[in-house]
Amino acid sequence: MANEMWGGRFAEGPAAIMQEINASIDFDKRLAAQDIRGSIAHCEMIAAQGIIDAQSAEAIVQGLRQVKAEIDAGTFTFRSELEDIHMNVEARLAEIIGSAAGRLHTGRSRNDQVATDFRLWVRDTIDAIDASLADLQQALAEKALEHAGTVMPGFTHLQSAQPVTFGHHMMAYVEMIGRDRGRFQDARKRLNECPLGAAALGGTNFPIDRTRTAAALGFDRPTANSLDSVSDRDFALEALSAASILAMHLSRFAEEIVIWTSAQFAFVKLSDKFTTGSSIMPQKRNPDAAELVRAKSGRIFGSLMGLLTVMKGLTLAYAKDMQEDKEQTFDALDALALCIAATAGMVRDMEPDAKRLRKAAGSGYATATDLANWLVQNLNMPFRDAHHVTGRLVGLASGKGVDLDKLTLAEMQTVEPRITDGIYSVLSVVNSVKSRKSYGGPAPENVKKQAKRWLALLVREKRALASK
Ligand code: ARG
Repeated sequence: MANEMWGGRFAEGPAAIMQEINASIDFDKRLAAQDIRGSIAHCEMIAAQGIIDAQSAEAIVQGLRQVKAEIDAGTFTFRSELEDIHMNVEARLAEIIGSAAGRLHTGRSRNDQVATDFRLWVRDTIDAIDASLADLQQALAEKALEHAGTVMPGFTHLQSAQPVTFGHHMMAYVEMIGRDRGRFQDARKRLNECPLGAAALGGTNFPIDRTRTAAALGFDRPTANSLDSVSDRDFALEALSAASILAMHLSRFAEEIVIWTSAQFAFVKLSDKFTTGSSIMPQKRNPDAAELVRAKSGRIFGSLMGLLTVMKGLTLAYAKDMQEDKEQTFDALDALALCIAATAGMVRDMEPDAKRLRKAAGSGYATATDLANWLVQNLNMPFRDAHHVTGRLVGLASGKGVDLDKLTLAEMQTVEPRITDGIYSVLSVVNSVKSRKSYGGPAPENVKKQAKRWLALLVREKRALASK
């Protein structure tokens, strides 16, 4: 009978809620493909080692293929009383092939099984993320090449600082994403060891060949300690931390898109493909995709914190707490995939307003640093003095309410009599940008070089991947 104090909803006593809290099938069914891959590798290994007979092994592999086909076709019935994907698959296998199915679980446990499945899933997902990040980099580098000479304001503190180019700004994100891809690749390298065969926590006395299953599943080697194999989830945490840093980058870019598409800035336009209207204000075109990319970083960071918190108090080896690793990892990496694709879409869609960007690039005395450099280079002034003189010229212009290049030579000479009209060459934003050719600087020729370098690299990568 249900408990009088808290059993109101338990028609069958505590067992019903036990099943509800215990079952993971609703979410871990996403591991079906990896689970079956792992089981086939395990089955072939124990058969090759003479641990089970060849006939049973053949029946098991055939049966597992049928289960996979049923899941792919959507005809498979997932049952929550069978708890998780591992037991659902095995139970169906028994229905199909009979008692031989019971031999599959020889020399393994659900603990090493789930650790293997989840590693495979995270690895597959890292590979998919990498491909979509390469696509995003391509979109950015192509935009950069197209706008290598499109001058725009560069900001510090969101105050006009120095003119840069739209292409240079795009290439900044190409670099960031390059490092993000590197972080995922690093995580993948450490992840790529196979826990299968660690069994429940303490290995097995069956003569298994862990190197064989590791190779069959594309792992570099088996994991070296059985306790560690079933009890750590640092591979998922590394993926989530790489995901979090990437999401932070995408969120910053999204924030810029939100600002740039505002009527006040109007630096870029997004088409109807990536904006929505308002049901009450007809003039509006809202950058919802960018806002959601910005917002989804929250659940991605949250998943990292969530899983760290799940893991931090667990003694070795496996504990059921670890079943809570999956939903948040799935959720975070799903959200990330959406964010990457939406960002690539927005990059391809966005049209910078070159005229407006150029005008904005000149406001806020953005060429003051060039002016100071001119004084150093042409009048041999120490930079600190040049900075001071420039400050006075900016004060003069601001008092008159004009830009620096609108001051007359005579006006400038009241501050520094040695100034000549050569100075006007650096006061234009275009010349300012062109002159900053130092490595990594925004000069259009630099931007073109960098964009082409990345585009060539991306093509080489794609070719290498295709020939694998
Ligand atoms: N569904 C479980 C999980 O995700 C599988 C492992 C269960 N192992 C056990 N000893 N109960 O962690």
